[in-house]
Amino acid sequence: MKLFKIEKLSLKSWLKFILIAVSVAGTVVLLGTIILQFSPESLYIQTATEPSPNPSPEVQVVPHAPATPVTETSSELSQKLQESPAPNSPTQAEHSPPLLPRLPEAARQIGILNPKSQNSEMDKEEQKFVGSETAYGHFLYPQGHMNRMVIISSYGARQYQRFEYLHPEAAKALMNMIYTARDEGVWLVPVSGFRTVEAQEELFEAQIQRRGSTEAAAKVSAPPGYSEHHTGFAIDLTDGNFPKKDITIDFENTKAFQWLTRHAQKFGFELSFPPNNSQGVSYEPWHWRYIGSPEAAAAFAQAR
Ligand code: DAL
Ligand code: ZN
Repeated sequence: MKLFKIEKLSLKSWLKFILIAVSVAGTVVLLGTIILQFSPESLYIQTATEPSPNPSPEVQVVPHAPATPVTETSSELSQKLQESPAPNSPTQAEHSPPLLPRLPEAARQIGILNPKSQNSEMDKEEQKFVGSETAYGHFLYPQGHMNRMVIISSYGARQYQRFEYLHPEAAKALMNMIYTARDEGVWLVPVSGFRTVEAQEELFEAQIQRRGSTEAAAKVSAPPGYSEHHTGFAIDLTDGNFPKKDITIDFENTKAFQWLTRHAQKFGFELSFPPNNSQGVSYEPWHWRYIGSPEAAAAFAQAR
């Protein structure tokens, strides 16, 4: 009788133990999944799903934080990026949405040609270039689709968090470049990559307000539909050690810029708007375009 009681109690204890063990294991698996989902590594391969809530404007100083985790060597990162699906692989190509329509269709969609704005002075100015292949020296660029872009950096936290995106080919080359520079003591920070036509419209409008005319704005910023950033192959770079020089001509006096002038070409990047460029756009030492793949080179063929 006594023995039976002990056995009965022991069975109950076992059941309790198993129940607790299963709960603990479940919690560990759940926490692990959450942590992995938000780990910095996943940022490199995560496909973009949301637009950047606060893209850093061209020609405005923007605060930034270290852009990339510094725990991997360039070869490790390069291998990781190689393991992600090739951008032009049949599977991805099948699912890649088409490019958004070229202007003026795109312009109508974003409101440049919408009926309510057609009467203002500013819009008459803008209508001079809507639908044409160039505007104040800037070329027309079809917008790449957000779903095709990958995250290259993250800034801020919680409601202030924003991501920057690039086309996967440019992203891979950029990461190789950033990590190589880091190994040589140079801190490159990517502050603005892919932009929608809509986002560019806001930036350009801000420049018009600031500089007083569309023409003056177009010297320092591209009209919506005409920014190299629409392609996902252009990136604004800064020096992490000199945030006050972000998106200013003074960026040329940083170690980052000097390193870029010597090495960027090896990674497939070139300065889009050097001093006295043939497009007549202001010198932009921070703005680099990727031309290291057939798709990227084709995107900028008209500008080179
Ligand atoms: N910042 C240059 C002009 C562009 O957006 O293409
Ligand atoms: Zn730029």
